[in-house]
Amino acid sequence: MEIKKVMVIGAGQMGGGIAQVCAQAGYDVILNDIQEESFNKGLAVITKNLARNVERGRMSEGDKEAVLSRITKSLDLSDAKNADIVIEAAVENMEIKRSIFAQLDEIAPAHTILATNTSSLPITEIAAATNRPEKVIGMHFMNPVPVMKLVEIIRGLATADEVYQAVEDMTNALSKVPVEVNDFPGFVANRVLMPMINEAVYTLYEGVATKEAIDEVMKLGMNHPMGPLQLADFIGLDTCLYIMETLHEGFGDSKYRPCPLLRKYVKAGWLGKKSGRGFYEYN
Ligand code: CAA
Repeated sequence: MEIKKVMVIGAGQMGGGIAQVCAQAGYDVILNDIQEESFNKGLAVITKNLARNVERGRMSEGDKEAVLSRITKSLDLSDAKNADIVIEAAVENMEIKRSIFAQLDEIAPAHTILATNTSSLPITEIAAATNRPEKVIGMHFMNPVPVMKLVEIIRGLATADEVYQAVEDMTNALSKVPVEVNDFPGFVANRVLMPMINEAVYTLYEGVATKEAIDEVMKLGMNHPMGPLQLADFIGLDTCLYIMETLHEGFGDSKYRPCPLLRKYVKAGWLGKKSGRGFYEYN
């Protein structure tokens, strides 16, 4: 299973980062989004990240141009006909993902692996929308993708060993570290991270400490690079709430109930850094 051509669906924060690291590793990348404006925004972020690498002496101007030349624009899912692997990083919504995977299954050649960057949705359920569940797999990158080393690789119920192996090899080729996990809500990363963030929100909600104090305790006391409330703003409070709801529903255990304050902020449109306000304010 040789992978040369990668299609990334979604040019947002995650999809753009995935496209960047794939192009940097020498893969030809088809970067797809439904809107041209989103593609252009994603490409602008990639260009800025690469320029910073040039500034820092980690890459030559020629290398930067070569990386950019490996990324082609796509506004149509039918471009999957040219891909050896598709990595989907669209919105976290089961119906949308199942519809994308059903279409990809029709379009992509039989050998094409269909991977999803979902942060918590069941791989097995997404795979069931296709006629090739053995070629469907989770490839969960962390944000910011160009910086973070981890990729959780999640096997669905039917994922074939050679598909797992091809995706593990590709992850190594991206200079990332693959970690194998099974298909349970939140996998490992978000099963552990999100309840911690949710508990930090409860700590604020119950008036145990200020937001700054909560973040300082976790940064200085546990050596975390960001405090949990700052990290929640960075990830997006809507994403945090969605993942807590997925854990709550998936396990049926009240220990995963989302904090009412998290819900309130999301309802107010305070989604974190991306909306300019979450637990903190951003310019
Ligand atoms: N894209 C590309 N590069 C970035 C970046 C981004 N969005 N953000 C930071 N960087 C780079 C910077 O350019 C800088 O590189 P150089 O100075 O070497 O050129 C380097 O990272 C360090 O950045 P800063 O000095 O600005 O700041 P920092 O040292 O605080 O690091 C951080 C920033 C890497 C984001 C760090 O704060 C961190 O690790 N935070 C925690 C991130 C984390 O936990 N991510 C997981 C989120 S959960 C998730 O992703 C799963 C999910 O499903 C929700």
